[in-house]
Amino acid sequence: MAPIKRHKITIVGAGATGATLAHWCAAKELGDIVLVDVVEGMPQGKALDLQQAAPVEGFDARVTGTNDYAETADSDIIVITAGAARKPGMSRDDLLGINYKIVKAVTEATAPRSPEAVIIVLTNPLDVMCSVAHRASGFPRNRVVGQSGVLDSTRFRTFIAMELGVSCEDVTALVLGGHGDSMVPMVRYSYAGGIPIERLLPRETIERLVERTRFGGGEIVNLMGSSAFYAPSAAVAQMVEAVLRDRKRILPCAALLEGEYGQRGIFAGVPVVLGGDGVERVIELDLTNEERAAFEASCRDVRESLAKLPAG
Ligand code: APR
Repeated sequence: MAPIKRHKITIVGAGATGATLAHWCAAKELGDIVLVDVVEGMPQGKALDLQQAAPVEGFDARVTGTNDYAETADSDIIVITAGAARKPGMSRDDLLGINYKIVKAVTEATAPRSPEAVIIVLTNPLDVMCSVAHRASGFPRNRVVGQSGVLDSTRFRTFIAMELGVSCEDVTALVLGGHGDSMVPMVRYSYAGGIPIERLLPRETIERLVERTRFGGGEIVNLMGSSAFYAPSAAVAQMVEAVLRDRKRILPCAALLEGEYGQRGIFAGVPVVLGGDGVERVIELDLTNEERAAFEASCRDVRESLAKLPAG
């Protein structure tokens, strides 16, 4: 039998989100981790610091930091968090031009070195950056996926659990559409202990929680002057685990739509089966007229941003 090797996870961007993701992945022993950044010394320092936590926390994972993409070769997963993050008053679209160049360059540097990898994109504006990574990698659509819905729905779940005063473990929720202010929290598909939340909370309260979810990222930017990173990175770690352990989880992710939900050629948040082969299936739901209109409006926003990208 060939020696069994640990999985290899490359995380590009060793900033707030990338480094915290490395922490979650190491603690969960999902594989060996390579942290890459343009800043010299920083990924090396953070990797060494995290590695030195291993004896205390008892995890077996090799954590390395580098500025050299050669060290990312043969990764099973490439997570792209590299980019500029939002400052107060900035929309995700303001980041478009800056992050387009970064995500394209990063994808071109990593994808050929790990041709079998699954790419998970986190850089905003998310749905558009997924298209950039998809085009620049030449990977099939199942192997490029974006983190958006896991974060948006964990925010919705948190607010529902806080409002009801119940364990977040018992709350499930679904958020569709683009990862922007026009995202579509799906009240009808949100439950606490298997009970539809519409049976447990008045309509006005649900509407308040929906609005708070839509602006959940902005609320944090306004409080601390920079983007959230704990929940976003935890959401990615869940996706990494779903792929590397072939768990076939049903998670809301940004996937390339080719006819599903009446959309073609854009990434948008939909429920997918996430497993060893990446996005193994897109699950199509029947939407009410109101939900469909909200989903289509959200997809229009994604399409408009996509049209602002330079050709090629
Ligand atoms: N190659 C590699 N790393 C890069 C590059 C590049 N070309 N350009 C920038 N970086 C690195 C930065 O040096 C920085 O360390 O990306 C890192 C980004 O980290 P932060 O600024 O801390 O941003 P973070 O909060 O982690 O957010 C990253 O995720 O949630 C999204 O909107 C957020 O797009 C943003 C991304």
